[in-house]
Amino acid sequence: MIVSQLLISCTGQDRPKTIDFGSFTIPAPAGWNKIEFQGIDSYVGGLTNGTDTLTFDYGWYSYDFGYEDTDAHLIKIDTINGKTATLIKPRISGHGTIRMYISNAYKGNYFNLVGSDIQNELTVFDIFKSVKFKDSNTTVNSLNFAQNFKASKYPPSAEQIFKRNCASCHHISDIQLIGPGMTTMRKDRFDKWFFDTLFVYTPQTPNEKMGTDYHRKMFEHLTDQDIQLIKGLLKENE
Ligand code: HEC
Repeated sequence: MIVSQLLISCTGQDRPKTIDFGSFTIPAPAGWNKIEFQGIDSYVGGLTNGTDTLTFDYGWYSYDFGYEDTDAHLIKIDTINGKTATLIKPRISGHGTIRMYISNAYKGNYFNLVGSDIQNELTVFDIFKSVKFKDSNTTVNSLNFAQNFKASKYPPSAEQIFKRNCASCHHISDIQLIGPGMTTMRKDRFDKWFFDTLFVYTPQTPNEKMGTDYHRKMFEHLTDQDIQLIKGLLKENE
């Protein structure tokens, strides 16, 4: 919620710089400057060059994808400095919303960076791909960032994919069901289970049929992007 006045810091700097917002930094190309709002239930702010404006909100409740008009927008899941990000852009450049959404930003907060009717999409994607949180891993990035956007009438969220495929055995908290709770799982081990085919694990428990072979066979229909989205539900606990 935005309650108070808008302050634009006009320190007259037209050089590119990195703006520090505390838990994260956003690069500002030449001519872009910081905007600050006063928020109540989340931290809001942004940057602008006078023509194009991006605003962020960063907070604790999870953002429900009230998807932009799906006929007019395209979607892409990417990795930005180790974080899974959902990108949205208008089908017709300059007519609609550009969004970067991360459900598991710093300390489990969500992060949303959004612009409307943006003139210079390329600059905005350059900004998106350099956003860094305190725990970002700058060595992990998509190779084809912001390319191959897809139409997606009802793009499923991480929670929906999880509910459909995993929720019968795993709980989204630390509660143990048939399998361990999602928030107790380590990300490196999660990667091994789904992406490292040299790693094979057969449990020694009554669930001996539910090891890596079972998971890979059973979830062959999920794309790497689906798996990355589910991984976003894990805690930052490495
Ligand atoms: C039919 C039950 C079942 C379903 C469905 C299932 N799992 Fe599992 N999963 C298990 C069991 C049981 C284990 C524990 C094996 C062990 O360590 O003994 C496990 C372990 C795992 C592990 C390893 C955790 C660790 O810390 O070692 C991961 C990762 C995992 N599951 C992910 C998933 C994901 C993601 C899905 C959905 C796409 C899924 N599972 C669906 C039963 C299931």
